[in-house]
Amino acid sequence: MTELLRPDAVGIARAAALLHQGLLVAFGTETVYGLGADATNDCAVAAIFTAKERPWFNPLICHYADDDAALGDVVAHDQARRLATAFWPGPLTLVLTRRPDCAISRLASGGLDTLAVRVPEHRVARSLLREAGVPVAAPSANRSGRVSPTTADHALDELSGRIAAVLDSGPCTVGVESTVLDLSSSTPLLLRPGGVTVEAIEDVIGKVESAMPPSSEPLRSPGMLALHYAPRTHVRCSAISVGPNEALLAFGTPLPGAGFVFNLSEKSDLAAAASRLFTGLRKLDEAAADLRLERIAVMPVPDQGLGRAINDRLRRAAAPRVGGGSVSADNGRHRSLE
Ligand code: TXA
Ligand code: MG
Repeated sequence: MTELLRPDAVGIARAAALLHQGLLVAFGTETVYGLGADATNDCAVAAIFTAKERPWFNPLICHYADDDAALGDVVAHDQARRLATAFWPGPLTLVLTRRPDCAISRLASGGLDTLAVRVPEHRVARSLLREAGVPVAAPSANRSGRVSPTTADHALDELSGRIAAVLDSGPCTVGVESTVLDLSSSTPLLLRPGGVTVEAIEDVIGKVESAMPPSSEPLRSPGMLALHYAPRTHVRCSAISVGPNEALLAFGTPLPGAGFVFNLSEKSDLAAAASRLFTGLRKLDEAAADLRLERIAVMPVPDQGLGRAINDRLRRAAAPRVGGGSVSADNGRHRSLE
């Protein structure tokens, strides 16, 4: 049985106690719900991979209560410190070289010599991290390859019966995952666009390279295809017209003629659209099944600011499915995204 805990002192204390016992607790952050385990406990971290059916080589983000603790486990250089000061607590994850004395389970690094660290902003997440007193490894609280949860109900839908508890922290305000930036070598490399925009990062540290293909191109690499954010229904991006056999994910004034509509933002507001993206994909997936619609058509979203993170998730949702969910690790830097 998975317990549903309230975000009050009693619920947070219970969640921290479960983490201490090596059990798994899903909890809300400002981005999406995470599936947390004590990051210093190998067995607990291993259980995350089992509960999510996640490939063992796909590393996890480690969450901390404050900047000093987060940067204390990695080789933190000047750029990392400047970004931490500018954006933590908040939706930015930094990939840095592990320090030799780092106590985080090697499983969380997926066999790499780097560690992804982040200090979330959400009140409940911060209270839980403080109360737990240990860093918490947490991927998004969905089964591997599926849409990330942004409410406690979504997290329960994904993982009920597989984990000890869900700490209900309310709906996530940012709604897309954190930006993942690799600072472990000389050039800063964007591994995943997310809640902090590339433009804002470049204002602090200058030019950032991107590991992503240009947004106009569909995803091709098998490693990137396999780990996508997929609803069950087929997704068609950049729709300029829509049919009655399609569900529409609208942005701005909806195209006429769809069988069902979910509007990300009538006012074409990117932050509002990001916060509703995964809920929208889930709703349209359900509607498509109920109404026997063939596809989800998606209206174009501008590729700037938070729009980059939205388009990245939509391209993954639209990528052709590869059988069995198998993935290939790439050589050198780890780029698979999930
Ligand atoms: O907003 C978020 O980032 C959420 C919340 C819960 O914090 N977490 C999240 O975790 O989205 P996950 O595991 O679903 O995505 C983490 C991404 C993956 O693409 C993973 O491959 C990458 O970060 N990653 C983690 N550690 C890494 C490392 N050492 N090197 C390169 N990429 C890494
Ligand atoms: Mg994920």
